[in-house]
Amino acid sequence: MSPNDTSKSANAQWGGRFSGGPAEVMEKINASIDFDQRLFTQDIAGSRAHADMLVAQGILSLKDGKAINDGLDTISRELEDGKFEFSQALEDIHMNIEVRLHDLIGEPAGRLHTARSRNDQVATDFRLWVRDAADSIDAQLHDLQAALIARAEQHADLLMPGFTHLQTAQPVTFGHHLLAYVEMFGRDRGRFADCRQRLNESPLGAGALAGTSFPIDRQQTAAALGFDRPMANSLDAVADRDFALEFLAATAIAMTHISRISEEIVIWCSDGFGFVRLSDAYTTGSSMMPQKRNPDAAELSRAKAGRVFGDLLTLLTVMKGLPLTYSKDMQEDKEPVFDAADSLALALAATTGMVGDLEPMPDAMRAAATKGYPTATDLADWLVSVAGLPFREAHHVTGEIVKAAESRGVLLDQFPVADMQAIDERITEDVLSVLSIDAALARRTSEGGTAPDNVRAAVVAARQRFLET
Ligand code: ARG
Repeated sequence: MSPNDTSKSANAQWGGRFSGGPAEVMEKINASIDFDQRLFTQDIAGSRAHADMLVAQGILSLKDGKAINDGLDTISRELEDGKFEFSQALEDIHMNIEVRLHDLIGEPAGRLHTARSRNDQVATDFRLWVRDAADSIDAQLHDLQAALIARAEQHADLLMPGFTHLQTAQPVTFGHHLLAYVEMFGRDRGRFADCRQRLNESPLGAGALAGTSFPIDRQQTAAALGFDRPMANSLDAVADRDFALEFLAATAIAMTHISRISEEIVIWCSDGFGFVRLSDAYTTGSSMMPQKRNPDAAELSRAKAGRVFGDLLTLLTVMKGLPLTYSKDMQEDKEPVFDAADSLALALAATTGMVGDLEPMPDAMRAAATKGYPTATDLADWLVSVAGLPFREAHHVTGEIVKAAESRGVLLDQFPVADMQAIDERITEDVLSVLSIDAALARRTSEGGTAPDNVRAAVVAARQRFLET
């Protein structure tokens, strides 16, 4: 390609001021049709709302309005059937559709762009797209929560070690652990709902940047497109992309949650842990090692967080230095948003599938929960509440008992009470009632705690809060 090739003719949409066409490389760098064709549904909806409003305001004749709507029907079908021919020379989805409309209906097509610019057009299309994406992500997050809650109910009293620093800390239940993610995904839904609510204002009618001299009705187009109201400032309407940034930020945070549960699934499936098994549906084999069952879906869901963070950083960086209002830089807003939405959708579907698929291994969980003196806190708590020691002193005494038990290679509930009394004479036989891991679990009855009865109640509450609204 020669960078100076200007053999093309001037663009039909603004050719008046131009005598030559773009260099090939100009056309290539300028075109967004390869990706913004995903906005076609929204673009057609925006054009219909605009045309209807122009007719209602007497700016466009009823006849032309009808011709435009009929032409858009045909184009819509062509696009849905994959029969529409996209042209790079026509840059983007807006001009591809407008030119096709002209092929179909002739002169009235040229009247559709009255009182409109691609600047308010693309801002409208993109808001509508992000709004739809937020709705479909919400539905997927709901489904993931439903899967987690169902498994939590099933395993409300399944004992497993809870970790801090990935060291055994205190026993918890598997159900309680899964419900922790239900809360995180619930907040993610809240973030998408906030984003959706804030973005739901119409840029249409802002024109290129300053508004228009035509007597348009922005309330009408806003209502027709399901927006709550028109955006208040025409400059802001065409220049802002914070709705896309907010969507990306919510997506990135949701991906951290996906990534963490995926990481846990990878760890749980490993031979060292063996806490869960994934079926053949969610594992892959190795081309060399016949014994392998690799949790690739979890690994890829974990990895997709990385690209989504990149998407957020991409758009933050594109936007940060732009003077008001529109600059072509902003055409780069779409790919990161599409990529992030696609990545999250895929990772959510895979994670929901794995949550339904995984089979917990109670023996391995119990064996691991028994190691590492997970009831030491219960011993210290007993020294405080029954023997009356200050917590710091109880902590110290317990530490000595754990050290002694460890050196003999026995668990706390196997360590003779007489030997504990040698360390602190205030200890009585009653201490045995708190030293087993099952007892420790059952005693965590404080609000939000892991006692199986609490978890069963939390399942009911989670269902009400997240699934029945
Ligand atoms: N394809 C363009 C975009 O995505 C549409 C807006 C073009 N506006 C302009 N003034 N050249 O941003």
